[in-house]
Amino acid sequence: MPANSSSKGEYLMASRSKVTLTQLQAMKEQRQPITMVTTYDYTAALLADRAGIDMFLVGDSLGNVMLGYPSTVPVTMEEMIHHTRAVMRANPAALVVTDMPFLSYETSVSEAVYNAGRLLKEGGAEAVKLEGGRAMTPMVRAITDAGIPVMGHLGLTPQSAVQLGGYRVQGRDKAAAQKMIDDAQALVEAGVFSLVLECVPTSLARTITEQLPVPTIGIGAGPDCDGQVLVYHDLLGLYDRFKPKFVKRYANLAEDIVKALEQYRDEVRQRKFPGEEYSFR
Ligand code: KIV
Repeated sequence: MPANSSSKGEYLMASRSKVTLTQLQAMKEQRQPITMVTTYDYTAALLADRAGIDMFLVGDSLGNVMLGYPSTVPVTMEEMIHHTRAVMRANPAALVVTDMPFLSYETSVSEAVYNAGRLLKEGGAEAVKLEGGRAMTPMVRAITDAGIPVMGHLGLTPQSAVQLGGYRVQGRDKAAAQKMIDDAQALVEAGVFSLVLECVPTSLARTITEQLPVPTIGIGAGPDCDGQVLVYHDLLGLYDRFKPKFVKRYANLAEDIVKALEQYRDEVRQRKFPGEEYSFR
């Protein structure tokens, strides 16, 4: 059953209860698609929660779309905590996962546990996500042993995009595909509760999804994952400088916003705004 539905399949907007890891696992088992979207601020979290999204990702993609960095590499722990706190102030029913930024977990197990803990203690996150395969399993195990749920991320891992040869589909040849399957299994053994698959051929994502006991969440990984995630700004057409092939735009907010701002500009210049109804007698 979807995390937000009654047994009759009706959507329960008003009484949405907190989405739990157990519910997400049950959704995989019952083949109910899981919805996830990135959120980086209070207003977006209010709206996405009203829409009944199951999971929010405070993604380090905030470096690109909120902070204007050229990649996710410069994003800091302080920035991730700041944005997670803003999202948590919306008190969402969605389960909130925060990305561990580059170099906050790769250097040692103790750094990884400490920084994951900060995202929970200072940011209010409910789970963390980190990128990478087998090499990251000691960190995943230690963080989960500390009581913090961990989501994995395989395929195109943006923090190491340069090493991967750019922002391209991963796991196309047989050896790379097998490595991704092995990495996915190693992450599950280390304790991940879910796994993001980014820019992965549909058939490979399907194989991984069928083999893993935990939910896979795809982005550019075809329709057979247990759930889907998109960047908020991409799906709403808020960030329109670049559109990856896997992004479907459900709105064109950038255009709408510019049009509204132009109209405001013109009305102020023409002294049409503020009229009587927006002024005090
Ligand atoms: O930071 C992010 O937005 C992500 C998604 C692409 C999964 O990691």
